[in-house]
Amino acid sequence: MCGIFGFVAAQNRHTSEVLTGLKFLEYRGYDSWGIAVAKDGEVESEKKTGAIAQATTRLPDSTAALGHTRWATHGGVTEANAHPHIDCKGRFAVIHNGIVENYHELGARLRPGHIFLSQTDTEVLVHLLEEEIECETDLLKALLTVFRQVEGLSAVAVLDAHTGQVAVAKNGSPIALGWADGAVYLASDANALLDHTRRIHFLDDGNAAALTPDGIRVYNAQSGQPIIPEVRNVTWDVRHSGLEGHTHFMSKEIHEQPRVLREIAERKRAEAVALAQVIGEARDVYLIGCGTAYHAAMQGRYLLAELGGKSSTVAAASELNLILPLLDADSLVVAFSQSGETIDVLEAAREARGRGARIAALVNAEGSALDRMADLSVLLGCGPERCVLSTKSYTAKLAILHMAARGLVGEVERGAAEVHDAGFRLESLFEREAKQGTIRDTARRITDHQHLFILGRHRNYPLALEAALKIKEVSYLHAEGFAAGELKHGVIALITHGTPCLILAPDDDFRHEALAAASEVHARGAFTVGFSPRPESEFDVTLPVSCSVSAPYEISATAQLLAYELALLRGCDPDKPRNLAKSVTVK
Ligand code: AGP
Repeated sequence: MCGIFGFVAAQNRHTSEVLTGLKFLEYRGYDSWGIAVAKDGEVESEKKTGAIAQATTRLPDSTAALGHTRWATHGGVTEANAHPHIDCKGRFAVIHNGIVENYHELGARLRPGHIFLSQTDTEVLVHLLEEEIECETDLLKALLTVFRQVEGLSAVAVLDAHTGQVAVAKNGSPIALGWADGAVYLASDANALLDHTRRIHFLDDGNAAALTPDGIRVYNAQSGQPIIPEVRNVTWDVRHSGLEGHTHFMSKEIHEQPRVLREIAERKRAEAVALAQVIGEARDVYLIGCGTAYHAAMQGRYLLAELGGKSSTVAAASELNLILPLLDADSLVVAFSQSGETIDVLEAAREARGRGARIAALVNAEGSALDRMADLSVLLGCGPERCVLSTKSYTAKLAILHMAARGLVGEVERGAAEVHDAGFRLESLFEREAKQGTIRDTARRITDHQHLFILGRHRNYPLALEAALKIKEVSYLHAEGFAAGELKHGVIALITHGTPCLILAPDDDFRHEALAAASEVHARGAFTVGFSPRPESEFDVTLPVSCSVSAPYEISATAQLLAYELALLRGCDPDKPRNLAKSVTVK
């Protein structure tokens, strides 16, 4: 949650660099933003509510600047609550990602007289620093004294206008540091630094850094001891990180999936075999994730069982406590996460490791905390995902698990061929939609409803949950996915005339039960949309999905497009849904 970007340079640099960095980071929070620069020994700052969009900054160029884009946790969305927060003397500017859980107690430690301008948990930090600097003149040491008092997961950065230095301390929220010619940088996501440098260090939890015109010094935040940072030369392919002619990242990333699936089939066989090996060796396997990643884990359970003959247990990462006592050295936890920074996933993986379990990760963000902590990290390789909604990273997880499941029975090539074929089937699905607009027309017939139900049987059940999540997240239409077998046990009471019901009925051995459920809701007046290889009398509309092996990819892409069209029709921003952020780094 929240995006942090900043630099320290030997010569003045354009403050617009910070704005560009923050724009890249907006997927982390976009309810308000702010920038501070050091100018003639004073902090000059600018704060605004709303997304950055085409905003420019009136702040002067400078040798040191810090910026922040916010996802509010404490204090409403106002300019006063936007970061940075400035001390009473105008010397320090503090920005923060995370939660200061004990901010009331910390506030009580201050001398009287400080003027608080916001309702945030963060502002107390800059006033504590204001007092601390009186007895400790070294910026980083002063920050560490304050940081050690903070309870909760946080990354805190401070700009000192007197020295033109920046200091940062981290425990939980991601910080990447970058070395460029004549300047050093920090950001919440290394991708935001790639316009300036590829020489990156990922600050570990419990560490801190001082950024000066001479470079970056890294320290252990507890002991204060210096650390030699591991600087990576990141080679990430960011060729496809722009909009590429699309209006929204959601549409662009949905339409990238054919290429992504084919590339995974061609390039990720070795990783799939390695994943199959650790899964095969484990006595018991646990698949965990949050949100869409949790739905991918649920789908993974079917893939491993049906294609690889391996049973596994699925859990939402925030609910792993139940399983923890069962874990030991013969257990494998496979953690699913696009960002690799989702706090519930990281904590669950750490707890599991504490019980001796091995950790495998399916993660998109290279260099993320999960990528660095896993025993086996399989990178999805689908490029930066900038829309808050996960689309391509979801099908990429399914594809790698599909190949690994086939790999469990020595058929990784067959898995790769099936994933490759699914890439082509998605291509023709998108071409057909571009010509016929069936999904767009279906959205028009649904958009005025407040409730919608999605029925899926067996392996189509997690697909129904994921389709519902996509529609909820981006169009705010209350969509509920459920196991079709549960229909008559309650949900059918909600079906009245015209209630939209999506029925997932690909050509598999559960199709007849799906059709039975379709006729039961149809009989009660529902408007039925069949995800089906052919029209049926039970369906008012049919959205074609071809053969069964690629059905999960086609059903997912069709539901993603439907959600996108509903968002446009309902005037919602597909890339920045309200109240959401791309990676959830606070509890
Ligand atoms: C999905 O569209 C959402 N953005 C959200 O549910 C997401 O999947 C969840 O927060 C997990 O994120 P992760 O994959 O980065 O861990």
